[in-house]
Amino acid sequence: MSRRHLTFRQLETFATVARLGSFSRAAESLHLTQPAVSIQIRQIVDVVGLPLFEQSGRDIRLTTAGQELLQTARELDDSWNRFESAVNALKGLRKGRLRVALVTTAKYFLPRMLGAFCQRYPEIDIELEVANRARIVERLRANEDDLYIMSFPPEELEVVATPFLDNPLVVVAPASLPLPPGPLSLADLAHHPFLMRETGSGTRKAVDRHLARSGLALNVKLSLGSNEAIRDLVASGMGLAILSRHVLGEKPEQDGLRIIDVAGFPLQQPWSIVHLKRKVLSLPAQAFIDELLEHAALS
Ligand code: PGA
Repeated sequence: MSRRHLTFRQLETFATVARLGSFSRAAESLHLTQPAVSIQIRQIVDVVGLPLFEQSGRDIRLTTAGQELLQTARELDDSWNRFESAVNALKGLRKGRLRVALVTTAKYFLPRMLGAFCQRYPEIDIELEVANRARIVERLRANEDDLYIMSFPPEELEVVATPFLDNPLVVVAPASLPLPPGPLSLADLAHHPFLMRETGSGTRKAVDRHLARSGLALNVKLSLGSNEAIRDLVASGMGLAILSRHVLGEKPEQDGLRIIDVAGFPLQQPWSIVHLKRKVLSLPAQAFIDELLEHAALS
């Protein structure tokens, strides 16, 4: 196998096809034509001497050789980032690239912190990926990003997790719903229809854990993967929900919502900045952690 002819660009194309599971989506994301992507992949296959993808129904899947190459490509990427950071440190610069993956609920506060970071380090390019917790854990396992923001750092992986901000989960109802006064128990509300986040979401995990501990079941009318949709459906009178306080505006009543005083709530599950223990953090990643900690201390 002669690796002399392999380039970083080809490996990036390969990793993009692997990540998106499609030549055409990779072409779109890389601003290339599909034949250009196919040619690059064929050039790698010629060097490796084994197929990298196999057809699985309408999708393509990595072969074992493909999985090995993906792992190697990520390690090379990590090494190069380390090298770049080392060189940048020598130059006294904070230049480079930062990839952050965050749970959907965190997108309400992160842009503010990101704004301050971008002003401080205008030469750092940032890529953000927003998905539910289950998907973020997959990305963490595959070492796809520099940093991850989530509530429940996975116990099955060796990670470093730094809690930095509260994520209170509150019970929210339509503003017009008549309710008895005073603190209620969740059992008082169990006959109301509830709109829940989908299985795989961190919010859902926190709620399910609370219900299991208190031996309660809620009347779940609908599960869906969007905080905004749940918030708006609650305001339209469809039911109650348990959502992160960050999802609601400053004044929920103005949006037709009301936070109910329920015993045991808000559920507290701080957000953490997470990365794999074996990952050597780039300078931009380290600077971003500092920024988040500093910002959180002030808020
Ligand atoms: P979610 O995650 O957006 O998937 O509900 C929230 C969290 O982990 O805090």
